[in-house]
Amino acid sequence: MLPLCVLAAFISTAFAVKPIHSHNDYTRAVPLWTALNLSIMSVEADVWWKSSQLFVAHTSGAIDKSKTLDSLYLAPILGIIEGSIPSAVPISVQNPLQLLIDFKTDGPTTFQPVANALQSLRAGGHLTTYANGVLTPGAVTVVGTGNTPLASVLAQTPRDIFFDADIRTLYSTKPGPALEWAPAIAPLASVDFGRVSGAAQMQELVRNAHDFGIRARFWDTPANGATWDAFWAAGSDWVNADDLQAVSDAWAAFNE
Ligand SMILES: *[C@@H]1O[C@H](CO)[C@@H](O)[C@H](O)[C@H]1NC(C)=O
Repeated sequence: MLPLCVLAAFISTAFAVKPIHSHNDYTRAVPLWTALNLSIMSVEADVWWKSSQLFVAHTSGAIDKSKTLDSLYLAPILGIIEGSIPSAVPISVQNPLQLLIDFKTDGPTTFQPVANALQSLRAGGHLTTYANGVLTPGAVTVVGTGNTPLASVLAQTPRDIFFDADIRTLYSTKPGPALEWAPAIAPLASVDFGRVSGAAQMQELVRNAHDFGIRARFWDTPANGATWDAFWAAGSDWVNADDLQAVSDAWAAFNE
């Protein structure tokens, strides 16, 4: 368990970022930019390892060869961080981006290509990294979800691909022998909201995640203001959003 002071620091920084996650971000009118321009600093890409490339698409049948992890996300993100691509909203250690990579193809096979694709961001020192027991925040935190194998995340040294844990099992499972759940393994823990029995369980799951210093997210949530407000009131760190403008407006109203 984390000492309380660490938790307090975590909780106080948790809301420096708008608590909105761009679900299937590549389906927005302009991927990455629609979110970024609203200061939404968490985006998600579904990734397929096919023909030695990492394509971003919802299904394998929908693959468009021009849409790769690099072209849609990694190259523009690097350009924004390093200043070659102008952006009103920066991506920096002070205003970090969470990049969720949803592995659609086989996890162990897809892991190394994703790790390789991150090389320019890694070489620039822009990735959140865990090494020698120290978690160093970077401008970009990469979190693997979908088929991402926990074993590959744990084995990666230094680690710069993190894990999306199951928020229901943080107390009942351990990530490995002699390991506890922590942001150095899983900065994020999630579940399908359809598997949550109601408001009381949702609040308990959020508290459990925060006990470990981990941020909470629910997916497949009803898209309406009452639900978003209930998540924020419960302390949920990320609302899984498709209509980014509507959720941003709801967040502004929630804070009035
Ligand atoms: C985002 O903002 C930039 C200015 O930083 C602007 O050039 C661009 O058109 C905007 N894109 C979207 C999708 O809003």
